[in-house]
Amino acid sequence: MKRIHFIFVVLGLIWISGIAIYMSSHQQVEIKSPTNVDTYPPNKPTKKVLQCEYIDIVYTWVNGSDPKHIDSRTMRSGSKRHSQPGNNRYRDLMGLKYSLRSVRKYAPWIKNIWVVSASQYPTWFDETNDEINFIFHKDYYTNQDDLPTFNSNSIESNFYSLPKEVSDCFIYFNDDIFFGSPVAMKDFYDPTYGQAIYKSGWTAPQSKEKQANIWHACIAYTNDLLNNLWEVDNKNRHYASHGHQFFTREVFERMYNDLEGEFKKTSANPFRTAHDLQIPFLYLAYVSRFYATYEPSPINYYALIMDDHEKMKKEFAKILAKKPKTVCLNDGLSPENPNVKVIEELEKFFEKYFPDKPSWEL
Ligand SMILES: *[C@@H]1O[C@H](CO)[C@@H](O)[C@H](O)[C@H]1NC(C)=O
Repeated sequence: MKRIHFIFVVLGLIWISGIAIYMSSHQQVEIKSPTNVDTYPPNKPTKKVLQCEYIDIVYTWVNGSDPKHIDSRTMRSGSKRHSQPGNNRYRDLMGLKYSLRSVRKYAPWIKNIWVVSASQYPTWFDETNDEINFIFHKDYYTNQDDLPTFNSNSIESNFYSLPKEVSDCFIYFNDDIFFGSPVAMKDFYDPTYGQAIYKSGWTAPQSKEKQANIWHACIAYTNDLLNNLWEVDNKNRHYASHGHQFFTREVFERMYNDLEGEFKKTSANPFRTAHDLQIPFLYLAYVSRFYATYEPSPINYYALIMDDHEKMKKEFAKILAKKPKTVCLNDGLSPENPNVKVIEELEKFFEKYFPDKPSWEL
């Protein structure tokens, strides 16, 4: 063999083995990626695949300690029951502040960030920034007579008419949920397989005793409405996993067309009633029935913030060690005098998780 040919053969071998090494390492990265979805359907879906050009995130947030908010709550309800500043349904534990930090840290591919509020801004928020957009209830409610509202079912039942600037597909967070580690679009949506769904172990309807709790009652009520529309084996009627939701305009329009009267009724209830639509449950039933969906392994972690300081220290340490993809920290502190030590511990936890101050904070 001429020497020049020999050199070409060697170069060729190096080139081929380079490709092989690159491919095997690349494959490993794919497999190890924390954002991989585990369960894809084996075949192409037969149902319609929702189209998402890009994905936004929508928050609902309220500062229930704001004296103006307390006044309008009291006026609207005609009772003191809703008026305590600490009422934990409305209390602000800085969840939104750190959750917004978590979006840019762990889900930078999310395009626009929207916060739905009752004409309030957080005190730490720089209103001159243009990275976070606020939508006030009065800007998107079809029926302005339904305002002011203090009912999350009402707020969510108007999502079909969110401003058109909001993407057709969006992740929905309450202000007590944040991203705890990197997430990929495939955790929520895949252009080939459709929408990822996350079910809770609970199915509807739960027992009458459970339905004494208004949240279960709303789901049972919504389940009855669904049964009037189409028959489904009850054991397949799952609650939506408590945590993030993924919503699309197309499904909302479809639900609204079928249940317009119910949407209007729920919208008009300023406080929760047992006959409200429960939107995440309704949405899950609709999207599973009419559209292509797939079920990745669970990503929502849920914890209750309680007054026991030692217990909460352990809980926060556990979250920091496990880093679930989404974390819901539900306010279970005492309404009248929450343990201040726990609130301080929570802030320390958040600062450790998300230390970098973004441009939209003062
Ligand atoms: C909520 O309102 C209270 C009272 O006006 C204020 O002290 C507090 O800083 C507000 N919290 C946020 C996060 O805006």
